[in-house]
Amino acid sequence: MNSERCTAIDGSVSQLPDENDDDTIARIMRLSEQPGVISFAGGFPAPEVQNWQALRDLTMMTLNSSKNSAFRYGPTSGITKLRELLASRMRKLGRTTVLDEILITAGGVAGLDLIAATYLKPGDNVIVGSPSYLGALQVFRNHRVNMISVPVFDQGLNLELLEQALIAADAENNPVKYIYTVPSFDNPTGVTTGLAHRQQLIKLATTHGAWILEDGAYQELYFESPPDSMLTALEPDCVIHINTFSKMLCPGFRLGWIVAPAPVISRLSYRKQGWDQCASTVGQHVAVTALSTGYMEDQLELARKFYLRRCNLIIDCLGQELGDIATWNVPEGGFYIWMQLPTGVSAEIVSDTALTASNVAVLPGTSFYAKNPEQGTLRLCFSSVDENRIEEGIKGLRNAVISHLEPELRSLAS
Ligand SMILES: Cc1ncc(COP(=O)(O)O)c(C=O)c1O
Repeated sequence: MNSERCTAIDGSVSQLPDENDDDTIARIMRLSEQPGVISFAGGFPAPEVQNWQALRDLTMMTLNSSKNSAFRYGPTSGITKLRELLASRMRKLGRTTVLDEILITAGGVAGLDLIAATYLKPGDNVIVGSPSYLGALQVFRNHRVNMISVPVFDQGLNLELLEQALIAADAENNPVKYIYTVPSFDNPTGVTTGLAHRQQLIKLATTHGAWILEDGAYQELYFESPPDSMLTALEPDCVIHINTFSKMLCPGFRLGWIVAPAPVISRLSYRKQGWDQCASTVGQHVAVTALSTGYMEDQLELARKFYLRRCNLIIDCLGQELGDIATWNVPEGGFYIWMQLPTGVSAEIVSDTALTASNVAVLPGTSFYAKNPEQGTLRLCFSSVDENRIEEGIKGLRNAVISHLEPELRSLAS
């Protein structure tokens, strides 16, 4: 292979990634596959939650009964039956939805990318949480939009600072186009916002003419009680809702959906034609069966109980091992615990030490910031870690943190 030619090809990439480019997702994938690693890193569904035999049977049954249509191209907006089922599901969740307001995508990130490609141009202002979901940051970076970071506290996006950011963007004649948010069981902070926060967020967005991009990836993965109304249910006209089957069912089908006003869906659909033509038809047929036979509900019931138990195990263990030196949130759903390390301790160094000294993988929070990363934050994903090794893993993390404490604090902690 001629390397000069390769360089020339690389140079012709239409939107070169910039120096902030981060390969953390690829690194997580590699790490989680290494034998022996106790991984709190990747946000993957737990293999134990899935009844694999039942899923294989369901898939085979679907393929056998689809009369081969599962192997053909499907409509760009998605097969009608699946859109109907999702419209009905969204109605049950409080969003009055008709068929033309649903578009099937190849997952949540694909949905975000499609929206960015259709509606954003380089330099457009988009508000993201500080911190925010890494996949969304990558999408916005790829599209070279200007990300304005607004701090996320334990109540969600700081609305006062959000308002200031909206006002500042208006004053510069470049009003904010989108506010990206994961209101329920956020990735990475685990935070869920309450109804008053949601209403206030909508009020601010509509006042300043910004759309809200609501990411509902964990919406239905609550432990005990469902979160407050989705933003799209509260304000259907100004919210684009993206969602995914990746966490509720499994990621391998690469399937998600968008709910938005019909003209938006129509425009996205047109763009999608020249994009991937349609999402996997095999996956869509299986999703129809999963939704219409009750399989999905059973699966969700199981998952909620399972993740609650696993989250509690880790929280208990954290209390025992790190209660004297770190703080963290206690989520009510989703996959993530967000940890604050003692002042002055770098999460990047701690995560390197945890991996090399104890084979424990955690993600430094620094990857989850568009700008000015906080050095002392860590994300722990509890969903897919080997349950029998949680204690060992948290002990390894404790040792890594302690080894980087100031000497006086270290003697108090050990
Ligand atoms: C908040 C959030 N949105 C979207 C996704 C991506 O989902 P998908 O696998 O469907 O692209 C994830 C996956 O981690 C996520 O955490």
